[in-house]
Amino acid sequence: MFSNNESLSLLISFLSLFIQTPPLPEINVNEWWGPRHLKSIQDTSIRPFVVEFNASMIADLRHRLRNTRQMTPPLEGTGSEYGFNTKEIPRWLRYWAEEYPYQDRVVEINKYPQYKTNIQGLDVHFVRVIPKVPIGIEVVPLLVLHGWPSSYLDFYALIPVLTSVSPHRDFVIEVIAASLPGFAFSDGAVRPGFGVDKMAVVLRNLMHRLGHKKFYTHGADWGSVVMSNMATFFPNEVLGYHSSMPTIFSPLQAFARIVGDYFPSLVVRPEVADRMYPLSNFLSKIVRESGYFHLQATKPDTVDIALTDSPAGLLAYFFEKISVGTREYYQHRADGGLELHYTKEQLVDNLMVYWASDSVATAGRIYADSFSPRYFSLRTDSIPSSVPAWILQAKYEISYIPPWMYKLKFPNLVNETVLDTGGHFLALELPVVLAEDIVRAVVEFRRLQHKGKKKEGRNCEVNSDFVDLLCLLQFYKVINLLCI
Ligand SMILES: *[C@@H]1O[C@H](CO)[C@@H](O)[C@H](O)[C@H]1NC(C)=O
Ligand SMILES: *[C@@H]1O[C@H](CO)[C@@H](O)[C@H](O)[C@H]1NC(C)=O
Repeated sequence: MFSNNESLSLLISFLSLFIQTPPLPEINVNEWWGPRHLKSIQDTSIRPFVVEFNASMIADLRHRLRNTRQMTPPLEGTGSEYGFNTKEIPRWLRYWAEEYPYQDRVVEINKYPQYKTNIQGLDVHFVRVIPKVPIGIEVVPLLVLHGWPSSYLDFYALIPVLTSVSPHRDFVIEVIAASLPGFAFSDGAVRPGFGVDKMAVVLRNLMHRLGHKKFYTHGADWGSVVMSNMATFFPNEVLGYHSSMPTIFSPLQAFARIVGDYFPSLVVRPEVADRMYPLSNFLSKIVRESGYFHLQATKPDTVDIALTDSPAGLLAYFFEKISVGTREYYQHRADGGLELHYTKEQLVDNLMVYWASDSVATAGRIYADSFSPRYFSLRTDSIPSSVPAWILQAKYEISYIPPWMYKLKFPNLVNETVLDTGGHFLALELPVVLAEDIVRAVVEFRRLQHKGKKKEGRNCEVNSDFVDLLCLLQFYKVINLLCI
């Protein structure tokens, strides 16, 4: 399925044999993240939840939007290189205060059933759509997870595709779109250390609460990192993992990326080489666009004072990221190119979810608690997971990873879809393309699963010659250890 002419991949796999795989971290599935006094109550009910935009909240928001100070004009001849162009802000504030149809939008937001349930001390919010199916059709659960600065609303346009019955399939998907803890209407932790690994446990427990001991997953952005952790910790529960932002941080892949700067053909297919190289382009993009990341990974609460208090500040901060995440070159546009891909309503709905739930501060902390020495010391990206994975790589996603490199983490990588368009906010930009890719992945995960049931007792699920070789090398490693 994948070409195997990347000889560097063999060297890296060989080197990996000499690097100790870190142990699986100890997982406490009952770790308490909420206020301590709630621990004696332990409410396990699942409560229906409805989003409200009430009159006092709207009045207060409008007041703030109408009373911003004069914006400092942008520098002459600039687009959004210095940050979101200030000339553009007033028209957005006017739209948000005067034209945004609050009541229509809240009806739209509530069109799918939403719930909250308390997991490990935190109220977790989610949408759950259970399709009605004819007899003989199996319903399979799929947990989908957004990232920052997005929300569960990103997945609304996917839900009809995912939950529809097709004559070509013997299954239909039940969608659970959760809000990451700390985001939207999900509570954030009340003490430090609640990183993506801990979120993976909470969301896995959510699936158990809903009666799903085994399920499929899809993740974007942070949601993808959480799901990767979930697949690492619970390989017998995650039946398949689909990611639109496959990333791994490990010394071996970093080494390979650097070697590829000199010899790209050793690392990546020529057709997509320009997504990785020259490395200097990639690194300068990362430095230019990740200021927010560094800020939130170190002092999230300081900037969150401004974002929580000023809707104008929140809008500019989010729009700048959505703009360059969509197309890096939109930094040169004053309007950030936003309306080329999204409707005004969509963009403001996303802001409203953060504003109405007052969650921008708790959401921002995901960076600090996941980009931490504690989390990095676990080295979860260096622990291979046996869960079958499928990756979708959009052209303008932040980074590209060659399949062989991703196999260091997910040896059972089933397929890679390469798009020649699309950016980081793919669920909003190309919902049908994404949903159909997820369905194809689930079809394949199920096929392999049924095949696997017939052939018990194989530890290495072989998908390509390359993985064959990995299995063989692992075998030699064991022999080697036995001899010493
Ligand atoms: C209105 O909504 C806000 C936030 O969404 C909430 O804090 C407030 O308590 C609500 N007020 C009423 C009267 O329901
Ligand atoms: C893998 O992905 C490619 C490109 O999207 C597609 O043509 C192919 O059918 C997929 N393979 C499987 C087994 O689904």
